[in-house]
Amino acid sequence: MNTISKNTKVAIIGLGNIGEAIAVNLTKGNHPVIVAARDFEKAKSLSDKLGNLADAKEITDAIKEADVVIPAIYFDKIKEFLQLYSNELQGKVIVDVSNPIAPDGNGGFKKIINENDSAGKILSELIPSNSRIVKAFGTLGAGSLLSEAFSEPNRKVLFYASDSTNSNNIIEELIASSGFEPFHIGGVDQSIRIEVFGDLHEFGNLGKPVTLDEAKSKIAKS
Ligand SMILES: NC(=O)c1ccc[n+]([C@@H]2O[C@H](COP(=O)([O-])OP(=O)(O)OC[C@H]3O[C@@H](n4cnc5c(N)ncnc54)[C@H](OP(=O)(O)O)[C@@H]3O)[C@@H](O)[C@H]2O)c1
Repeated sequence: MNTISKNTKVAIIGLGNIGEAIAVNLTKGNHPVIVAARDFEKAKSLSDKLGNLADAKEITDAIKEADVVIPAIYFDKIKEFLQLYSNELQGKVIVDVSNPIAPDGNGGFKKIINENDSAGKILSELIPSNSRIVKAFGTLGAGSLLSEAFSEPNRKVLFYASDSTNSNNIIEELIASSGFEPFHIGGVDQSIRIEVFGDLHEFGNLGKPVTLDEAKSKIAKS
């Protein structure tokens, strides 16, 4: 692992369930975060709650300052976000947390993209050409992301998918700072495995948060 962790500037945009959980975990792990929302007061209120390590900014400023941008918003909104902030997002690592699903009308969820597509792959084609995308932080529900962070004696795994070795180092540090064990499952074309209904998602065949040994055993059998 490299040692850039605390210097990597992370902006979390969108402070709903997942955005707040990621911010809580990173600050608990002593990693500073920039938090931003369409309503600045929402960001300010979260930064007040989290203390000195959380800095509230307007969205444009947050993206400009960050090395890593995490739009913790819904898949369709991320598509709009990538267009709207295409200038500010140049050269950034963009983390896709999204699960491309919507209520199915029967109390469950359905995929809103083709069965064999993934949000990660689709979004990878929409980012600025000099940016990099990593699929991460979306493999557990927000509840588990909070309750399973910093598990003892063994950390639980957060799977991620990425094509770039440089991004891998950065994301591994962020996952570790968040109280989880990073596990690279391959390139962004593997994103489908770690999105809802995938074999490595809590709400797919994985079924629950797993430790590194459990993850390795699961992968070996797949
Ligand atoms: N919840 C989970 O358990 C879970 C687990 C894994 C992955 N995810 C993924 O995480 C993402 C967020 O889910 P969530 O459950 O956190 O949703 P959420 O609680 O509804 O929060 C979504 C947030 O996105 C913000 N937002 C919407 N459009 C925006 C835009 N154009 N620019 C900036 N902010 C915008 C909303 O802010 P406003 O207050 O401005 O409306 C809201 O705070 C989704 O892609 C979801 O698939 C969720």
